[in-house]
Amino acid sequence: MEAVCRFLAALLALGTLCGAEPVKFRDCGSTVGKVLIVDITPCPSIPCILRKGQSYAVNVTFTSKTSSQTSVAEVHGILGGIPIPFNIPDADGCKSGIRCPIRNNQNYHYINSLPVKSEYPSIKVVVEWELKDENGKNLFCWRIPVQIAN
Ligand SMILES: *[C@@H]1O[C@H](CO)[C@@H](O)[C@H](O)[C@H]1NC(C)=O
Repeated sequence: MEAVCRFLAALLALGTLCGAEPVKFRDCGSTVGKVLIVDITPCPSIPCILRKGQSYAVNVTFTSKTSSQTSVAEVHGILGGIPIPFNIPDADGCKSGIRCPIRNNQNYHYINSLPVKSEYPSIKVVVEWELKDENGKNLFCWRIPVQIAN
């Protein structure tokens, strides 16, 4: 039993070293899609420690439950219940690893990055990431807690 545990611990440590790490997320109403995996690299544990001046790779695997010509991302930091817009390099989901038009019942990898500006305050905040279809409905909406740090 102990050997098994040590083996598993070693595997987990390797996974962390190798980068892409699925992050535990909370779904916040993916009405026309289903989130399968949220990868934030590097984020070995929750809350993600986001260092100022660094950029984090985001890879969201989801299944679409609708068809759509377009997809647009919106990112917020939720602070005391109030959503504050976060800047991302490109809000167009169709330029973020997704080939549009989006088809129903197909899996997609949404690839983007989250730059953490040096002027952000050092706070704990919940990041909410939405991807909206042509009708403004959420292909995905997920939340993860982060700690912004120097
Ligand atoms: C995104 O994640 C999926 C599933 O884990 C993986 O197959 C794919 O290679 C990743 N893409 C990138 C660009 O990291």
